[in-house]
Amino acid sequence: MKIIGFNGSPRKEGNTAWTINKILEGAKEQGAETQSWHFSDLDIKPCRSCWGCKNGDRGCVINDDMRKLYDALEQADALVLGTPVYMGQMSAQAKIFTDRLFASSQFSPRFSPYFKETNAARKKLIIVFTQGNPDADKFRLYFDYTKDMFQFLNFDVKEVVVVAGMRNEMAHERKDLYTVMKASGSSLVLE
Ligand SMILES: Cc1cc2nc3c(=O)[nH]c(=O)nc-3n(C[C@H](O)[C@H](O)[C@H](O)COP(=O)(O)O)c2cc1C
Repeated sequence: MKIIGFNGSPRKEGNTAWTINKILEGAKEQGAETQSWHFSDLDIKPCRSCWGCKNGDRGCVINDDMRKLYDALEQADALVLGTPVYMGQMSAQAKIFTDRLFASSQFSPRFSPYFKETNAARKKLIIVFTQGNPDADKFRLYFDYTKDMFQFLNFDVKEVVVVAGMRNEMAHERKDLYTVMKASGSSLVLE
């Protein structure tokens, strides 16, 4: 099983990256092959709404690093997409990536006139949010909405992980998170 982590935080050693890594570690212990990407290392431009991707089978016409991610996504059985909460929502980096999924026939939303049913297996997804606010339910409406949105994009959303209270401490200092995150990664492989 191939699992890819995507970090939507500009901090490569921040709470989101740490949480994604722990989940991937748990998956690896169950035999998964894992890979990680940081959006901040990549040049990924926003969708231009040119609809070039729907004109034939060329995919997205923008020639940037998202091409690497389309290839990686094709090989993946499961994804761990992590983002810090910025102003109550996902980061801009994570949103740009999400919009660019539009160009992939597998993830194109069902409202699109170009949507095609596919026989390809749905990819499993764990969504990770980290936030400063200590109340893990503070942005619950948005988290539930985001989960629905990814289900709508044909992902099999297994879990929405929320790491709250990241104001005065870092995720790696929370010893209670180690086993919980690794268990999430492990269940991504086993369930
Ligand atoms: C621009 C910006 C906006 C933020 N907005 C929120 C917010 O609306 N609610 C919240 O609880 N935390 C907010 N935070 C705190 C981050 O979500 C939190 O520190 C997160 O764990 C950072 O993740 P990272 O270490 O992976 O970068 C914000 C941080 C920044 C830099």
